[in-house]
Amino acid sequence: MNKTWWKESVVYQIYPRSFVDSNGDGVGDLRGIIGKLDYLKTLGVDVIWLSPVYKSPNDDNGYDISDYQDIMTEFGTLADCDELITAMHARGLKLMMDLVVNHTSDEHAWFQQARLSRNNPYHDYYIWREPKDGREPNNWEAAFNGSVWEWNEATGEYFLHMFSKKQPDLNWENPQVRRAVYDMMHFWFRRGVDGFRMDVINMISKPEGLPDAPVVRPGFLQPGFQLVTNGPRLLEFLGEMKREVLSKYDCITVGEAPLATVRQGVEITNEETGSLNMLFQFEHMDLDSVGGHMNGKWALKPLVLRDLKATMSRWQTALSGSGWNSLYLSNHDQPRPVSRFGDDGAYRVESAKMLGTFNHLLQGTPYIYQGEEIGMTNVAFDSISDYRDIEILNAFKTQTEEQGRDPREVMRGIYAKGRDNARTPMQWSAAPQAGFSKAEPWIKVNPNYTTINVEHALADPDSVFAYYQKLIQLRKAHPVFVYGTYALLLPEHEAIYAFTRTLEDERLLVVLNFSKGTPDFEAPTALAYGEAELLIGNYPVPGGDPRRFTLRPYEARVYRLR
Ligand code: NOJ
Repeated sequence: MNKTWWKESVVYQIYPRSFVDSNGDGVGDLRGIIGKLDYLKTLGVDVIWLSPVYKSPNDDNGYDISDYQDIMTEFGTLADCDELITAMHARGLKLMMDLVVNHTSDEHAWFQQARLSRNNPYHDYYIWREPKDGREPNNWEAAFNGSVWEWNEATGEYFLHMFSKKQPDLNWENPQVRRAVYDMMHFWFRRGVDGFRMDVINMISKPEGLPDAPVVRPGFLQPGFQLVTNGPRLLEFLGEMKREVLSKYDCITVGEAPLATVRQGVEITNEETGSLNMLFQFEHMDLDSVGGHMNGKWALKPLVLRDLKATMSRWQTALSGSGWNSLYLSNHDQPRPVSRFGDDGAYRVESAKMLGTFNHLLQGTPYIYQGEEIGMTNVAFDSISDYRDIEILNAFKTQTEEQGRDPREVMRGIYAKGRDNARTPMQWSAAPQAGFSKAEPWIKVNPNYTTINVEHALADPDSVFAYYQKLIQLRKAHPVFVYGTYALLLPEHEAIYAFTRTLEDERLLVVLNFSKGTPDFEAPTALAYGEAELLIGNYPVPGGDPRRFTLRPYEARVYRLR
């Protein structure tokens, strides 16, 4: 396995809108980020992934871009961005920008032109269809509800949008679109960025004919995503992007890939034959919803630990030596892991540390989402009017109005899975607005900021933050953290997730209790070791037999075996 800096790095994701507001308008901004770079250095991360900062009307908080080569007014200017890049590089930090090229905003100049007439030179930048039997060309449902088709009066056609109707999909079949994207990527590389996180990149090649999706919920629109996440020209387009752009820079790339299988993972991330360094796969994010349910992620189901082991082990094994994994439990689209997979009450600190251990000890490049390092939790606003996310607002409307579901039950889904859980302002201190802003923020702060905040975390040697710092330091000190191969132990155990990592004669044993209970761990006899040195754990560990011990609630231990 080749050794590279992007395998050894830890990435920190910033959602700029909610990170720090430096100019008192209630919205985070680039200058706010510049002011917190030393904080991120203290944590020890190497790369910052910045969610979109480009010009946008914010229908989907910047994932709807109206100008790829300018900065969102609320976030600052191109000069601020240059200053951010310089300030990061001066500290040895690398910058990964978000590349959102499956779709643009409908306010992008290309789309404004495209929709004017069928003869417009930009018309073919997007995907158009005639009505079928007087209505939408197929039965697909958009990610944010409703049909994927929106009518355009001027041309008498529908255009395709897999997300909101303000996010028309680009037509990657058109070589001019691809050229324009590659030119834009060069523009940012020349400005100094070090790589890209690529939004829903496995959706850029659409299946020929855009056929109806199989009917799994009669009487409603159907999920069409499985038809677009592995299109016939996907690998070709990515190969071209590698040839035309990525291969010219020493960069880091991660492709967001809904519904990716391990096969696609290998195809895309293989160092010789693939095009990107790693993918964000979603299989582990789907384990706590009822598969195939018409309400998708909102149909809740408790996580079964054995499922998590099976899923993660499949990715660990398939990509080992033939690709590379990204490791994440958290991002701006997911609820807070401590609330989702841990316990955000009595064992918040312990379970946040245990989950951090899990995410840093698998093979792959770990990603930390802002606030995860202090154990920020989900939020539960009483009123739907306090929510801001288009996905939440549309889901609430569809489920209460069209499906007649009890609003309280719909809110339970939103409390558990809503994206705004991750988007409440970063909790810097116990000051008003959690020290995020001097004004009322664009979305309310989580009321628990008075106790959960960075200021407290930095002052407490036992904080989640201090533990994350140590995890990152250990990863840098021991190559086995990065390159060791993974082997699952106790696959059937209901509460303990245990595995080893092995690199030549170095071996780690990782034992994680995913429950509030106190299960007994007993090392399998096949795992031979004499001494075991505890490298990190989230409870004080008395001496004793490292082959068998009782775990405390959400306990995590990492041993180096001899
Ligand atoms: C994935 C992004 O992470 C999400 O926030 C966004 O809504 C969709 N892609 C559409 O761009």
